[in-house]
Amino acid sequence: MSAVEIPAGLKELLQGYTVEVLRRRPPNLVEFAVQHFTRVLESQKKEQRLKKRNSKPARKGVTFQTSSNTPNKDDEEEEEEEEEDTSTTGKYSRRVSVCAEAYNPDDDEDDDTEPREQFSEVLDAMFEVLVKPQEHIIDQGDDGDNFYVIEKGVYDIFVQKDGASVCVGKYDNKGSFGELALMYNTPRAATIVATQDGALWGLDRATFHRLIVKNNAKKRRMYEAFIECVPLLKSLELSERMKIVDVLGARAFKDEERIITQGEKADCFYIVESGEVKIMIRSKTKAGQQDNTEVEVARCSRGQYFGELALVTNKPRAASVYAVGETKCLVIDIQAFERLLGPCMDIMKRNISQYEDQLVALFGTSDDLKH
Ligand code: CMP
Ligand code: CMP
Repeated sequence: MSAVEIPAGLKELLQGYTVEVLRRRPPNLVEFAVQHFTRVLESQKKEQRLKKRNSKPARKGVTFQTSSNTPNKDDEEEEEEEEEDTSTTGKYSRRVSVCAEAYNPDDDEDDDTEPREQFSEVLDAMFEVLVKPQEHIIDQGDDGDNFYVIEKGVYDIFVQKDGASVCVGKYDNKGSFGELALMYNTPRAATIVATQDGALWGLDRATFHRLIVKNNAKKRRMYEAFIECVPLLKSLELSERMKIVDVLGARAFKDEERIITQGEKADCFYIVESGEVKIMIRSKTKAGQQDNTEVEVARCSRGQYFGELALVTNKPRAASVYAVGETKCLVIDIQAFERLLGPCMDIMKRNISQYEDQLVALFGTSDDLKH
């Protein structure tokens, strides 16, 4: 019996199209198919032109790659090259070696994969993980296998301190974890336990390395110089500042856009990269009621930070923050803030005491900060 032969590349083409449909949810599937496959064709042609021009073969094939669950030869070699420091003592102490490959900025110089393609590749490689209450997704001290993005569920974070397991925080229906062991080739730094039924998207180590870690090298090139000039971070070691670059995200805001809302729960910290923000406070009247008029108490520009107060005091946001003109901020989530900015805590606390002085000068009381 002759089997029907499936043309090479058909599966990947259809997979790529499906991923894009799921991501963009176009109203007209046929019209979207025409646009999508035209892009694929153009990308193929571009690739062929590049190949002709360049004797060195391009690294990527058609727009959408096959699923990356199986590491390619390069990745296997990369992983063999990762060395382990034998000076490790206890189970939970960290191996000091950092995967040298991961941050060699020259490595991805010839990686001509576009961000859109990389994104599709990541989506392609992700797999769903359903979890039950009390299930350990990660155990501190283990080797890293996957990185996880939360779809739903609440997850406790436990860290070993003086032989006891201490709950240091939680992820509440958003965020991601499990990147540290993969980025720095260290044992898992925390235990992550589901507190209820939940769903996660996992990304295997090899794909994480190939796509995410190499992007981090680009990020280091982009933000290294800026981070070096942020006064708050001066007291950190260079390697600590680079870890901050690895975790930060960038967000752009339009003129007058609200970045933080007074009274809301806090989950991140901001550094102004460009533009300016104004800090506005709704004060209480003498009778203790909330007055709706907002008063400007301060401004922050390039290199300055805001949004630390609620994270430090574990209270709701003490002020609203708005963009003044087009503004870009670097954003660090609460887990990374707690993990990486501990050494800057004294400086932050000193500045927080100045907020009180500002409020006393403006309103005659700093009760708003105390809530
Ligand atoms: P990883 O070390 O790979 O596995 C455990 C994960 O927990 C870690 O990556 C981080 O993503 C996450 N995490 C959250 N808070 C902390 C913390 N305080 N210390 C270490 N890891 C943390
Ligand atoms: P947070 O309370 O997290 O969110 C609002 C931010 O405004 C606050 O952190 C501080 O970073 C910043 N801020 C600047 N000046 C003041 C002030 N006088 N009172 C309160 N917050 C201030």
